[in-house]
Amino acid sequence: MKITNEIAKQIKKDFPIFSHNLGLVYLDNAATTQKPASVINAVKNFYEKDNANVGRGVYSLANRAMKRYDQTRTVIANFIGANSGEIVFTRNTTESINLLAYVISKIIPKGKDEIVLTEMEHHSNLVPWQELCKRNGFKLKFVKITKDFVLDMKDFNSKLSDKTAIVSIAYASNVLGTINNVKLITRLAREKGAITVIDAAQAIQHIPIDVKHLDCDFLAFSGHKMMGPNGIGVLYGKKELLEKLSPFMFGGGMIEKVTFNDASWAKTPEKFEAGTQNIAGAVGFAEAINYIKKIGIENITGWEAFLLKYALKRLNEVKGIKTYHPNSGEKVPVVSFTLDSIHPHDIAEMLNEKKIAIRAGHCCAMPLMSVIKANGGVCRASFYFYNTLEDIDALVDSLREIQEKFK
Ligand SMILES: Cc1ncc(COP(=O)(O)O)c(C=O)c1O
Repeated sequence: MKITNEIAKQIKKDFPIFSHNLGLVYLDNAATTQKPASVINAVKNFYEKDNANVGRGVYSLANRAMKRYDQTRTVIANFIGANSGEIVFTRNTTESINLLAYVISKIIPKGKDEIVLTEMEHHSNLVPWQELCKRNGFKLKFVKITKDFVLDMKDFNSKLSDKTAIVSIAYASNVLGTINNVKLITRLAREKGAITVIDAAQAIQHIPIDVKHLDCDFLAFSGHKMMGPNGIGVLYGKKELLEKLSPFMFGGGMIEKVTFNDASWAKTPEKFEAGTQNIAGAVGFAEAINYIKKIGIENITGWEAFLLKYALKRLNEVKGIKTYHPNSGEKVPVVSFTLDSIHPHDIAEMLNEKKIAIRAGHCCAMPLMSVIKANGGVCRASFYFYNTLEDIDALVDSLREIQEKFK
């Protein structure tokens, strides 16, 4: 079903937040997405009908809960072309990358001590690696972005070397919307024997992803950015690599055998899932993926491309606006901008008076702000497939009014 503006209006009706907040123009989807009733109900139904802890009980209810939890692993695996044993549940992308940064040293060959990131990383794909460097004496290298806000592939090639241990990059930038050529990057990194990590937090909800096609070693994403509940995320890892890694948290649920003085670990992926997991979150997550499948990820991509084009056209009609995004190539529907010299927080607050929700500030990408020379931060409008052309018109009209007030 190709999404049109009329269909997007119908789709919006599936999301109770909009009927509880009449007039809400929600343009902060890169921070988190709204949840359709089917996801909310799946969580509610789980607690009402199937709630029990998993992996422990022998009674029917516990088996049912376990089944639902396991089913989600399969649903997610199918969604990204992985095997269910390669899906580790975490709380979010941040935890997935932290998990990896804690335990990855074990699979890094001797002599390799450089981590290649890019200038466009979110703090979650930067700070965990900084900490690894502090612990292990590794060095960080950053691939530059061009004036057109895309990765400078010449610079990438110059930063890669036989010393490169890890290449960890965003699939899509949460500030610029740039979609990186992760397939090519992964191949080039592999030729140098580096481990590849993809931060897919801003891509998984917008474009089809197949980890086998990308041939990446690890890929991280969050349920809440794709209509799922908060507190459930994924670390995908190639089975043979996950098997080589040690757990990073210890306790119940991740062991095979325990004596007073020692313990051995359960198999992958359970060995990474210590303690009671977010079972209801997993059930809701599966429902979110079902919802995406029902709409069709290609239809989502198509409508969002249209929305983005329209948004860029309309926003750039406003004199004094500066937008930060690549002029060509594929993009996710995110537009960062500044308006005259008005502080982004003032703009966001004034938009809030009109029930328009956008993000303002450094968007968890402080180093990038100095690269793009937006040291006071940016305003960021980010869209999802339930957004309409009227949402964008409301934003542009309000920006013009704000501009008048500041004159
Ligand atoms: C590119 C990118 N990576 C990582 C994250 C962190 O996601 P989470 O807060 O769900 O861990 C975000 C969140 O905005 C992001 O945009």
